Formats: sequence, structure tokens, C-alpha cells
Amino acid sequence: MSQFAPQSLAKKPMLVKKIVVANWKMHGNLKQNQALLADYVALLSDLKQSQVVVCAPYPYLAQLQSLLQHTNIAWGAQNLAKNAEGAFTGEVSAAMLKDFGCQYVIIGHSERATAYCESDENIAQKFLQAKQHGLTPILCVGETLIEREAGVMELVVGKQLDTIIKLHSAAIFADSIISYEPIWAIGTGLAATPEQAKAMHKFIHHKIASLDKDAASRLKILYGGSVNPQNAVQLFAVQNIDGGLVGKCSLESQAFEKICIAAELAT
Ligand code: 13P
Repeated sequence: MSQFAPQSLAKKPMLVKKIVVANWKMHGNLKQNQALLADYVALLSDLKQSQVVVCAPYPYLAQLQSLLQHTNIAWGAQNLAKNAEGAFTGEVSAAMLKDFGCQYVIIGHSERATAYCESDENIAQKFLQAKQHGLTPILCVGETLIEREAGVMELVVGKQLDTIIKLHSAAIFADSIISYEPIWAIGTGLAATPEQAKAMHKFIHHKIASLDKDAASRLKILYGGSVNPQNAVQLFAVQNIDGGLVGKCSLESQAFEKICIAAELAT
């Protein structure tokens, strides 16, 4: 078990009902970002019940800080190093993200796990780094199509969570975010149905609650994978779906606004 102490967490109770995270992935440039962020600020300034978060590539974090710091929109990164400091060329630490005002960081996105062979153990180390530095981790979990068709999706997601629980304990999920992102739904236009998402979100919630009720009550569970303005209303109405992690539609301000309004209006 790690030396992480829950009381070392930055106290940031997540009082908002829903969270919508824009994952820009490797898109954008200074000029495009400026226009997109101006649209976000203009279109999303009235949101009261929900929190919007923008996760951009590292080089644009300073731009997010400068353009979002006096708004209701928070920001974060799409990855971080598993180590705190040292000779790790090309890596970016949790403390560096804090320097640029990040409050959130995506961890273990399947695009990284697949393309850069990130193991569950690496992902668990990154999760711990985020928590130790007061960043809210957005941990991505999810199964492949083959795993779903074989009916082992809960085993797969359960194992992804177990690696983190073993490194610390379920208490680490308090004030954290898990995003259920079935790999077959990412970028395919084929989102999970509300029933499929409901079953997995219930499984995740119960798994954490069976180990630590308080942590489960302070955990947000988002859905990601082809979220769009049409399916967001139904998905966000599902119990235990606390918002969304949005890729493609976050690059189109009007589509993103509709998704955020769906979160705002969901009960
Ligand atoms: P899409 O919304 O483009 O399917 O991407 C989902 C995702 O990977 C968010 O992290």
C-alpha cells in the first residue's frame, strides 16, 4: 500500500451535479483554440448545476490558463508522468500541471493504453501522482468489442480498478472521477445504449461502495464514447451517470453547448 494519506487531498468537494469534460485529444492550434474557447466562454457562462472541464494538449495549457482563469470553466491535461520528478525525458509531472492551473487530468485513456502500451500498473502510479498533488484524476476504464461480446466486460473493468485499489485502497476514489469509455464506442459514432451504460455504471459504483461507502458517495462516474447532442439527454438521465467525457463533439462549440445543457438540465 502507498504512503498516500487521504487528508493530503486538496479539499474540493464535488458539489456540482454533472461534469462534462472536453477531451480535445491531439487537435487544435493557438488560433483555433482561441476561437473555440471564446465560444465556450460565451455559450457556457450560465451553467450553474454542472462543471465544464477542458483537457487540451500540454503546449496549450498556458493558453487555457490565460483564457479561462476568470470563467466558470476548469481545465486539465490528457496525461501525466508516473514519477514526481527526475531524468524522464519527455514526461510532464503533476506539479508542472499544477503550475499551469490544471485541476484535472485524464489518466489511462484507451488511445494511450493501446498506442503506448500503458499497463494498468503505470496507470495506477499516475492516479496516485495526481491525488498526491491535489489534481482530480479522470480515470478511463472500458472493454473492447471482443470482451463485450464474450460477456467479460465487468471482469475487465473490475481488474482495471483492482490495480489501483491494490496500490492504495478504495478510499482513493473519494473526490475522483472514473470515466466508463467502452473502446468500441470511442470515435465510432456508436455510443453505448443507456441500458448498457447503466449496468456498467452500477457495477462500478457497487464495487467501490462494497469497499468504501464514503469514497463511492464522493466519486463521479462519467460516460464517454460517441456522446453527441442527441444521445446526451438520455445518457445523462441514467442513475450513476454523472456526466460525460466528450471527444469529437467538444471541437464543435454548438454541439458541445447542447451536450452541456443536457447535463445542466438532467436531474
Ligand atoms: P468521441 O467522443 O470522439 O467518441 O471520443 C470519446 C473519447 O475518447 C473521450 O475521451
